[in-house]
Amino acid sequence: MKPKVATIFGASGFIGRHLIRRLTEKDFRIVAATRSPYLHGYLKPLGNPGQIDLEKVNIFDEENLKTLIKNSDIVINLIGILYETKKQKFENIHADFPDLLSRICSELNIERLIHISALGINENVSSKYMQSKLMGEKKILHNFNNSIILRPSIVYGDGDNFFNQFASLAEFLPALPLIGGGQTKFQPIYVSDLCKAIVAILNKEEVDENIYELGGSQAYTFKEMMEILLKQIKKKRFLIPIPFSIARFQAKILQLFPKPLLTTDQVEMLKYDNVVSNNYPTLKDLKINPKTIESVLPSYIWRFRKGGQFG
Ligand SMILES: NC(=O)c1ccc[n+]([C@@H]2O[C@H](COP(=O)([O-])OP(=O)(O)OC[C@H]3O[C@@H](n4cnc5c(N)ncnc54)[C@H](OP(=O)(O)O)[C@@H]3O)[C@@H](O)[C@H]2O)c1
Repeated sequence: MKPKVATIFGASGFIGRHLIRRLTEKDFRIVAATRSPYLHGYLKPLGNPGQIDLEKVNIFDEENLKTLIKNSDIVINLIGILYETKKQKFENIHADFPDLLSRICSELNIERLIHISALGINENVSSKYMQSKLMGEKKILHNFNNSIILRPSIVYGDGDNFFNQFASLAEFLPALPLIGGGQTKFQPIYVSDLCKAIVAILNKEEVDENIYELGGSQAYTFKEMMEILLKQIKKKRFLIPIPFSIARFQAKILQLFPKPLLTTDQVEMLKYDNVVSNNYPTLKDLKINPKTIESVLPSYIWRFRKGGQFG
């Protein structure tokens, strides 16, 4: 049988790198769309020679998108940003691009569009990030029936931007902040489980569900996650509760940096629990038994221990 072609936008990111590996194992041919193919040559060895093409993309150029997609069976959108810059605005990246992409997928009769959104989005969450993700979902669902939207909680695994970032902070800070007291709940999902979910959805004969909420084996408060992390990296650090009002003030200053550690929009998001609502299908419906943080974290976070793997 002819291998299927999957075009992945945002292929060079954390989830993209893991997903490419999973899809090449399943014999997909990959078109990895990135703004800078010359910087991401490391993606090529994730498949057999010739199995992965790196292509340059301008996500607002309709003709460029059509050329990239026209020979694809599957399109996957992993493009997302955590903070705005002069050039990158939430609305353009999370709503306008998915709008254009889903219209093109419909026009070109693509078999399936998989779009990664975010868990916990609803009309009442005032964060700009969340509102832009919600807008993107609505556009996609309006434009293209064969779309599947995945809403993951925090995604973790080798190369993640969550545990790695806090472990890096613990390298030089005597204390880690617990915004809002660290009581916000999350249901982190292992990146491998997320990739398995994507494969399971691609294996379905038909698109029977348009939205999935993807959380891991259990919910943890932010404070509990920091305690698990510190135990794994064998470091003792104070965990200091910071009220939302003070965190917001700190974020106003931090967000002036080019790569901000915290923004006021993120402080806003931290006010809401990030766990599956059970109003939509989950990993269980895809017959995936998610891993626990405790079983996965030691496999990659050891580099922050004093003695590394032997520490
Ligand atoms: N990681 C999580 O915990 C998590 C949780 C919930 C939802 N999500 C969502 O999952 C998706 C993937 O997350 P991730 O952690 O893999 O993100 P990531 O590591 O930050 O990667 C994001 C990707 O977006 C691409 N990108 C950004 N702006 C672009 C632009 N203007 N044009 C083209 N490409 C652009 C980048 O590609 P190039 O620089 O190569 O062009 C990069 O590969 C995002 O939508 C994110 O919101 C992630």
